[in-house]
Amino acid sequence: MAAISPLGLLAFAGFALSADLAGYVLPLTGSSNGGNTFPGVSRPFGMVKLGPDLYTGSDSYSGYQPTGNFTGFSMLHESGTGGAPKYGVVSQMPVLGDIDNPLADHSVPRAAPDYAEVGYYKSSLASGISVELAATERAGLLNYTFEGTGTRNIIVDVSHVLPSYRGMGLEQHYLGGNISVINDQGTIYYQGSGSYDNGWNRAPEWTVFFCGYFDSEPTFKTFLGDGDNTGSGLAQYSTESELNSTARLGAVFSFNASTVVSRVGVSFISADQACDNVNDQIPDGMSLSAVRDATRQVWNSQVLSKITTTDTDATNLQLLYTSMYHMHLIPTNKTGENPLWTSSEPYYDDIFTLWDLFRCSTPLFHVLQPVAYEEYIRSLIDIWRHEGYLPDARSSFYNGATQGGSNADNVLADAYVKGVRGKVNWEDGYAAMQKDAEVTPANNNDPRDPSSSTKEGRGALPDWLNYGYITPTYGRSVSRAVEYAVNDFGLYQVAKGLGKTDDAEKYLNRSRFWRNHWNANLSSLGFSGFLGPRDTDGFIAQDPLSCGGCYWGDYYYEALPWEYSFNAHHDINTLIALTGGVHEFARRLEMVFTPGKNPTGSPAFNKTIFNPGNEPSFTTPYLYHFAGRPDLAVLRSRTAAKAYYHPTPDGLPGNSDAGAMETWLLWAMIGLYPITGQTTFLIGSPWFSDLTISLGGGKKLHITTTMVGEGGKGPGDPNSAFYVQLLMINDKRWTKSWVTWNDIFANGAEMEFVLGPEPSLDWANAGRPQRGQGYEPPPSPASEFSVDAKASDILENLPRPAGQEKRADGAAGAATTAETWDGGQSPGGDEDGNRTRTWYPKTTKDLAAALAGLTGLLLGVLWIQRRKNYTDRTCLEAQFAPLGAAMTKQEKCEPPLSFHDREEV
Ligand SMILES: *[C@@H]1O[C@H](CO)[C@@H](O)[C@H](O)[C@H]1NC(C)=O
Ligand SMILES: *[C@@H]1O[C@H](CO)[C@@H](O)[C@H](O)[C@H]1NC(C)=O
Ligand SMILES: *[C@@H]1O[C@H](CO)[C@@H](O)[C@H](O)[C@H]1NC(C)=O
Ligand SMILES: *[C@@H]1O[C@H](CO)[C@@H](O)[C@H](O)[C@H]1NC(C)=O
Ligand SMILES: *[C@@H]1O[C@H](CO)[C@@H](O)[C@H](O)[C@H]1NC(C)=O
Ligand SMILES: *[C@@H]1O[C@H](CO)[C@@H](O)[C@H](O)[C@H]1NC(C)=O
Ligand SMILES: *[C@@H]1O[C@H](CO)[C@@H](O)[C@H](O)[C@H]1NC(C)=O
Ligand SMILES: *[C@@H]1O[C@H](CO)[C@@H](O)[C@H](O)[C@H]1NC(C)=O
Repeated sequence: MAAISPLGLLAFAGFALSADLAGYVLPLTGSSNGGNTFPGVSRPFGMVKLGPDLYTGSDSYSGYQPTGNFTGFSMLHESGTGGAPKYGVVSQMPVLGDIDNPLADHSVPRAAPDYAEVGYYKSSLASGISVELAATERAGLLNYTFEGTGTRNIIVDVSHVLPSYRGMGLEQHYLGGNISVINDQGTIYYQGSGSYDNGWNRAPEWTVFFCGYFDSEPTFKTFLGDGDNTGSGLAQYSTESELNSTARLGAVFSFNASTVVSRVGVSFISADQACDNVNDQIPDGMSLSAVRDATRQVWNSQVLSKITTTDTDATNLQLLYTSMYHMHLIPTNKTGENPLWTSSEPYYDDIFTLWDLFRCSTPLFHVLQPVAYEEYIRSLIDIWRHEGYLPDARSSFYNGATQGGSNADNVLADAYVKGVRGKVNWEDGYAAMQKDAEVTPANNNDPRDPSSSTKEGRGALPDWLNYGYITPTYGRSVSRAVEYAVNDFGLYQVAKGLGKTDDAEKYLNRSRFWRNHWNANLSSLGFSGFLGPRDTDGFIAQDPLSCGGCYWGDYYYEALPWEYSFNAHHDINTLIALTGGVHEFARRLEMVFTPGKNPTGSPAFNKTIFNPGNEPSFTTPYLYHFAGRPDLAVLRSRTAAKAYYHPTPDGLPGNSDAGAMETWLLWAMIGLYPITGQTTFLIGSPWFSDLTISLGGGKKLHITTTMVGEGGKGPGDPNSAFYVQLLMINDKRWTKSWVTWNDIFANGAEMEFVLGPEPSLDWANAGRPQRGQGYEPPPSPASEFSVDAKASDILENLPRPAGQEKRADGAAGAATTAETWDGGQSPGGDEDGNRTRTWYPKTTKDLAAALAGLTGLLLGVLWIQRRKNYTDRTCLEAQFAPLGAAMTKQEKCEPPLSFHDREEV
């Protein structure tokens, strides 16, 4: 139900050919059930996010809650975050009736549900007041209609913040502020500042400045608290026009008019700049509808029109455009508003968090907003330049918190390998990454994990460098290890590109350190070998289906060993070999999607090990590509996307995580999946019959799909015809199930899909009984082992820290350091970590494996014989409408094989 308002239509008429795609955006999507999206008003990457703050007794991460009582309408919010609320500052609260104590509780329930559309928000208060909101990048407009009786007041409470009730020491504090009410030749306005600290990233004091005007002349009184900033004691309530204190303070403005419009600007530099921001962006007399229409136009032209389709399915369009909307709410572009340093570089804040965003969001940010993305990359590097470290997360001008690796390394590597250059200084970018990789950050003594820094960088670096693995000396030892390996792979990519060959070799070796956590003896659900905790004496017992507390001090952060054990995406061939080869790997993946296998899993997700609401599971459905089963990648990702995403307030499978969830869905809808840090995109299955992605500079990626019925005949049912039968790229038949950045994004491309209801054995030669016979898997750039390597070979040749390399004779390396290195493990499964033990091949087992291989080969040869005709291009052309005229197959061609016909080995 995308009701396009009359104003929307007006806007549509105003900007001619650009369609009003904003009508498909439902900002309340993901705002309840823990999605934590922000439904108020904002521009793309806007500093101001103006919306309601509600009290329910539990944390209101974006200010909004579907229930509870209004406590104010404030200018700064985050979208889709967790941990503890941040911001909710620079507020106004309308109140009817005489106010004895402005610091007392003035919260009121709703009279009606809130209404939200792009650029406009309305709340109706039970007190008989309606509040309508509009906003620009750095200013907001609040339009109050007082319908009830009594004195009409607006309370400006500088001490208002979003509270936290979780009791984890992450609550924000108001630290002091000031307010001046100024009468400028009859125009009364207020300006001042508020200072706050803490919140999820444990930020030190920061200050926001504000400047507020009214369209009607008020009387006013200022107020000052008694110094107990968690209480409502009043020390002063008078006509004094200036207050400056560490106590709670603010002003009450009272009006005779029944409609009052307030314009408020914010700045992090000065109150004067806050006034400039509002007077530049929402000049006196500008109507709410003008601000709303301009905002809507910005969203249409700068964001939503980047992807267009001629399809009309309302649910798909709402999911598409709402997801695009929510992924552009943060980070915030605070260029020119950074109080910490002066720089010619752009400044982006509110990075929540690269741990969440590096897989799906930053690669899509790059595709859709190449200009902003380059600014963002420059800004990340400038943060390192002035503060010493790249952020993994950042808010209120302060790095933190870092949940796993230094994942800005992945983002920078991704930008580098995909050719982002422009004004990015890559020597500095690489130096910033090297800081992460080489210099342990000072411990910020976060009580959640006092073992090392949670602020930035890699706290567990000493173990990583000394041992090539991470001991439980450090929290999150296993999940950090697999992330550090991915981070080091990012360094390898950039070092290689910059011609730093020694560094490249070093970081490639380090990117393999995740293998040192591979415990061949851990078993679960019939599978053996998982990433496990270890110390210098060897491995520590661990149930792969449990992550214990799954938090900062535990071995694994917020995901199961099963999930993390799939996360070495840069070295996936080695991982596949360790799990026993492609068939075992595919069986493992099937287990991940089997209902009921995860005792701690959510019933909403059928208790699968796959967790659609958590980032370490994001890539897992797509890993079937590496096992030669791109059809199952499509089935699993499509099933999850359709089951867990809806354009409704409870329509996200978990916390939006600043748009991470939405971008996972967007890639599924586009029919591609990025492997961050590499140029690879895995091919899924597009949801639209045609999709045009504007890439900037006039370049376009145009994707079409034709859905065919069974046997390639007749029109396909969109609900079931989602298996790729055939793909043409720029008029050439594409025989791999993956593409690179250069293939489709660098200069744009034309991709034509044929989709059908049964998996096609011919697509990307995926039907070979054994991978390697025609199927060209996506790259595994850090692997020196093939998928068929013996686990023992890998485990006997584990990578070691510099200076501790294994000698050719298999003995320890440099005598001085060898003793300290206990990285080896015997492939027979002993857990004593004794590298010197010799493994003797178990002949019978090897023989069995060899026989199985031979059988596969034989079947493969037979299969190739049988399928010979079908690979003929003329047959394909006859088979599928887009390539040939007829839908009927030619006699000489065999019908497409379904996977049911496939010989199992
Ligand atoms: C909201 O306000 C109403 C009316 O004052 C009150 O009854 C209710 O308890 C409040 N709700 C919360 C969550 O405080
Ligand atoms: C208000 O506080 C800000 C930030 O601390 C300070 O720069 C400014 O001088 C103060 N203004 C007044 C009038 O006290
Ligand atoms: C509001 O109305 C009262 C009563 O008529 C008057 O005394 C007061 O000055 C008015 N206030 C403003 C700001 O015009
Ligand atoms: C405002 O108060 C702050 C904190 O109490 C103080 O540091 C500052 O000097 C005061 N500013 C003025 C102009 O009084
Ligand atoms: C504020 O809202 C009222 C009631 O909807 C409307 O008449 C008025 O034009 C609005 N003011 C502005 C400045 O948009
Ligand atoms: C970010 O903000 C700055 C300052 O307002 C502006 O110049 C720049 O164009 C903005 N970036 C984008 C991508 O809009
Ligand atoms: C969850 O299980 C139910 C019942 O077996 C099934 O109908 C549904 O498709 C499953 N959902 C997913 C996403 O697999
Ligand atoms: C490794 O094996 C050697 C020889 O058997 C033994 O001396 C040593 O104690 C073992 N080390 C560990 C850590 O078990």
